[in-house]
Amino acid sequence: MRVVLPGGSIGVLGGGQLGRMLALEAKRMGYRVGVLDPVAGCPAAQVADFHLQAPLHDSEAALELSTRVDVVTLETELVPFAVLARLEAATPVRPGASVLHTIQDRLRQKEFLQAAGFPQAPFAPVHDPRCVQEAAQAVGFPAVLKSRRGGYDGKGQAFVPDPGALERAWQSIGGRPAVLETLVPFKMEIAVILARGVQGEIRVYPLAENVHKRRILHTTRVPARVPERTRREAERLACGIAETLGHVGVMAVEMFVLDDDTVLVNEIAPRTHNSGHYTFGACVTSQFEQHLRAICGLPLGDPSLLSPAVMVNLLGDLWLEGTPRWEAVLSRRNARLHLYGKAEARVGRKMGHVLIVNTDADRALREAEEIVAALRAEAGSSSAQDLPPG
Ligand SMILES: Nc1ncnc2c1ncn2[C@@H]1O[C@H](COP(=O)(O)OP(=O)(O)OP(=O)(O)O)[C@@H](O)[C@H]1O
Ligand SMILES: [Mg+2]
Repeated sequence: MRVVLPGGSIGVLGGGQLGRMLALEAKRMGYRVGVLDPVAGCPAAQVADFHLQAPLHDSEAALELSTRVDVVTLETELVPFAVLARLEAATPVRPGASVLHTIQDRLRQKEFLQAAGFPQAPFAPVHDPRCVQEAAQAVGFPAVLKSRRGGYDGKGQAFVPDPGALERAWQSIGGRPAVLETLVPFKMEIAVILARGVQGEIRVYPLAENVHKRRILHTTRVPARVPERTRREAERLACGIAETLGHVGVMAVEMFVLDDDTVLVNEIAPRTHNSGHYTFGACVTSQFEQHLRAICGLPLGDPSLLSPAVMVNLLGDLWLEGTPRWEAVLSRRNARLHLYGKAEARVGRKMGHVLIVNTDADRALREAEEIVAALRAEAGSSSAQDLPPG
């Protein structure tokens, strides 16, 4: 296996914030970066060496990217696996097409988990109105209906309180192929972030405790407040999934923790993940550097936590009444601001995040909420004069 050393070139399929932070870390380490993304001036293109502006399903453009780099990776599972399969013939592609094939269809992902014996909520496919009743019998209610493809941040999902509401819910997500799953009465959501290298070695990051609002990640707190046994079980499941898939790179496995501390898998992301943003500042090796190390065949870095931390997402909602009051973050010595360079703020759109480090994670969580509230308050002009001296 050829190792891609600093000075080499990385091709990234997708140019959002995950690609941007990957590119920032790659540039720091002396790599060149090329990005494929349909949007001019997308977050990753702003920091990459070159940008091919084309849709993610454009296999000719992807092929051109692959001829200009030493290894191709991705920042979104929306890249069609057939595109990866075509590139794989000539260039290392990590993760590979087979991983994407399993993951990018929610039903196939759930069938994979079931066949391999990983615990998850009961589910049933919904292809058309005829199988709606069949699905309703297989799954307990209340339930959630999720489109098989293309969903993120809760998009393409509908709450289904009872079997009678299923058909309308299915129409509301566009009558697309979907999966119905039982609503899990979880007491906590967690995510395992890990990296698996080309030789199969695995490094696991400290467990993340997630809170979602409106089905969008709001905060991540690390370390998660779970018993040791639960943490070990979550790690065992995530490592087993990465190994069974033959994944290379960073992977996130989102999970539900039930009242009795048992763990169910929610979903797999074969890439860097919002739940792992805390690693960029609070760990020895960020998830982005770790992903690079994995796909380049380098030794994996140390995932240890330098300090307990909280990550809070900044959604476009904060911009509704004007520019957020940045001094609310910048005046705090233990807070670190990340903005993704998105041209337009929209409600529910991830625009940036703040990392707060504090030896007391509960305190960090309170600080995160204070910061978000202060960013929003009397939104208007934000100026350096508002900052305290020094
Ligand atoms: N079966 C379920 N039971 C309870 N809550 C659920 C269930 N499915 C989803 N949710 C809630 O909705 C959130 C988003 O769901 P999911 O992770 O499936 O969506 P997604 O749109 O793929 O999100 P992501 O942005 O993480 O890719 C979950 O983190 C959880 O809070
Ligand atoms: Mg999710």
